[in-house]
Amino acid sequence: MPAMARYLTAVLQNRPIAEDFYELQFNWPSQAPAPKPGQFLTIRTSQSSVPLLRRPFAFSRYDHEDGSARIIYKVRGAATAQLAGKRPFDAVDVLAPLGKPFPLPDSETRPILVAGGIGIGPILFLARALHAHSPALRLIVGARTAAGLPSQLSGEYGEVIACTDDGSFGHSGTVIDALRSYLSTTTLSTNSGESVLYLCGPEPMLAGGHRLALECGITAYVAVEQTMGCAVGACMGCAVRVLGPERYARACTEGPVFDSRLIDWRE
Ligand SMILES: Cc1cc2nc3c(=O)[nH]c(=O)nc-3n(C[C@H](O)[C@H](O)[C@H](O)COP(=O)(O)OP(=O)(O)OC[C@H]3O[C@@H](n4cnc5c(N)ncnc54)[C@H](O)[C@@H]3O)c2cc1C
Ligand code: FES
Repeated sequence: MPAMARYLTAVLQNRPIAEDFYELQFNWPSQAPAPKPGQFLTIRTSQSSVPLLRRPFAFSRYDHEDGSARIIYKVRGAATAQLAGKRPFDAVDVLAPLGKPFPLPDSETRPILVAGGIGIGPILFLARALHAHSPALRLIVGARTAAGLPSQLSGEYGEVIACTDDGSFGHSGTVIDALRSYLSTTTLSTNSGESVLYLCGPEPMLAGGHRLALECGITAYVAVEQTMGCAVGACMGCAVRVLGPERYARACTEGPVFDSRLIDWRE
């Protein structure tokens, strides 16, 4: 894995794509290793001491042709509000690429990608990377309401199953409800060796995806979005409880992508 480094780069575009969600596109330095789906960066959003810590965000896209990278973020507190105020040519201070990427499926395996809430970015990045090689790819994207779904879920990601908790668009219910229904209408549950799940979203969603994967006998990879401190393996601020003698893994260096069977999902 190439070493991460700090880069000072510039905003190309920062635009709203759904209610409270923005997409930030910025120059990707030519000397930097290309980010892979599942990897993340940390951004220092202000030169002042508020907020003090860099904030982690998953890459949502990388374009080799124009040398740009993107993240999709939700405005939540001080750092993301500062990010939402960035304009073209503003400086961006990033540390990247961080963490381990999603393991890619072989050409025989059908990938099923599931995103909820702020998990949308890394899942869209993976969908884009896999679509050309995996025509059977399925993408399931969920939000609380229609306004929370990004507007550009086009054919470039394969067939998209959209769902909303309040039923205002697409499937009514959670992405896990939609995943269960999708699995039950395909032969996947009886043909288990040929599919793999990739999930990113809130923890209850990841736990639900894990349980469904176990029921169907398929592998699931989850990208966790644990609150982080240093993001480089030094503070244990991102510890995830895992099965086995180590008991804890660092999401920032050993993750953020894990085989769901490694995680201890007990409350
Ligand atoms: C590996 C990784 C990848 C991430 N990728 C994305 C991404 O692609 N897009 C995105 O929008 N966010 C992502 N996040 C979460 C993002 O880092 C936080 O939303 C951000 O740090 C909030 O900063 P803030 O100062 O705006 O809000 P804060 O003031 O720090 O927090 C505001 C509120 O959000 C909650 N919160 C903060 N961080 C998290 C978190 N990690 N999970 C759940 N709740 C949280 C706090 O509890 C608080 O209630 C990722 C986190 C990690 C660890
Ligand atoms: S955030 Fe410090 S070890 Fe992961």
